[in-house]
Amino acid sequence: MTGTPQMIKPLLRLTTILSLSVIGIAHADDSFEPNYDESLIPEYTLPDALTLQDGTAVADVETWKTKRRPELIKLFEEHVYGRAPGKPEAMHFETLDNEPQALDGAATRRQVRIYLTEGTEGPFLDLLMYVPNEGRPVPAFLGLNFYGNHSIAADPNIRLNMNWMRDKGEGVVDNHATDESRGTSASRWPVEMIVKRGYALATMYYGDIDPDTDDDFQNGVHAIFDKQVTGELAEGDPRPTDAWGSIATWAWGLSRSLDYLEEDPDINAARVAVMGHSRLGKTALWAGAEDERFALVISNNSGCGGAALSRRAFGETVWRINTSFPHWFNDKFQEYNNNESALPIDQHELIALIAPRPVYIASAVEDRWADPHGEYLSGYHANPVYQLLGTTGLPGESTELPPVDEPIKTGTIGYHIRTGKHDVTSFDWQQYLDFADLHFNK
Ligand code: GCU
Repeated sequence: MTGTPQMIKPLLRLTTILSLSVIGIAHADDSFEPNYDESLIPEYTLPDALTLQDGTAVADVETWKTKRRPELIKLFEEHVYGRAPGKPEAMHFETLDNEPQALDGAATRRQVRIYLTEGTEGPFLDLLMYVPNEGRPVPAFLGLNFYGNHSIAADPNIRLNMNWMRDKGEGVVDNHATDESRGTSASRWPVEMIVKRGYALATMYYGDIDPDTDDDFQNGVHAIFDKQVTGELAEGDPRPTDAWGSIATWAWGLSRSLDYLEEDPDINAARVAVMGHSRLGKTALWAGAEDERFALVISNNSGCGGAALSRRAFGETVWRINTSFPHWFNDKFQEYNNNESALPIDQHELIALIAPRPVYIASAVEDRWADPHGEYLSGYHANPVYQLLGTTGLPGESTELPPVDEPIKTGTIGYHIRTGKHDVTSFDWQQYLDFADLHFNK
């Protein structure tokens, strides 16, 4: 094989020259220049949500439910997020705190520990809830948080999370939370507003489920349940390419939270909206797609691997996300780096998997990295499925983005693009509450 090095060199040089002249794809030195120009989006054809893999058209509700929906779930498991185990049999709960006089008597603060195995050793998941004292059982919003339950409100009685966390958060020192981090994410979690509108808020730290770091799936719930997914692996055996990555793990944790909410008599578990921002928006979509008990799904600025169409390769691309966050998706997803058109699915089919249940997709003008137009279009292209199932889908027939700050919230698919940056704001929450009111007949 003496000729090989000489053959590789010119090839490498060629790749460098090509990649320097193209934006939106990987450069040979791993640098990346995102494409933010609509006119430079590659030509693409989306897979048809209403055609089975064997080419048969899906023309009725029955075929959607019994054939296409299960087929799409499997395709997303195999090619994007990975397979997860079911509900652990030994799961049990402990109420650690119940304060009926929270929020000046308007709500009960409840902290519940979800044990995943028979004993009380970890890992366990801590759910924080604020439940209105009036009108029970109440509908709820459920969402994962980035920096611990104690970061969502300044309430000193919220347990300080002791688990590993990314050091990007305020008051996080040596990858652990300090008291300084209490309430630092409060602007994203308007607890009073949610409770006043008659909804409970339930939230959990995503790192309780799986720490957000590329550790070869050694910790979090991977440590206890990974074998159920991978089978026994001998030393050096490759991990199956469809085994759960971290997003699938976090989505699994949301389903375990819902298992608890089903047991809580103060919650109307048939009316739980799952909500998430950014990577946790990707997670909320996958949780909502897989677990049909979620009555409503909200994607806040979820972008690549979430609501944004992968084939547009606008802003963050599949290569970029797999390179920055190799643990988020399954290993198979790597095959689509700079090769999005080979994917057997695209993200409009993730939205379609939520049908006929309501879904709200939110973008922000300055969040170009997440491709607002691609987020909108996945809702638009999910329409045929929503309509087949007898719902409105996304009102308006336009492929163009609606005007900024003018939410579309009267259909089964809601959408807005608001002024401002990648974040969750009170404007976002107002729309989610209105949308939930409409669909939960409040
Ligand atoms: C990065 C990543 C995004 C992700 C975001 C977040 O920007 O590229 O895909 O949504 O982090 O979760 O905050």
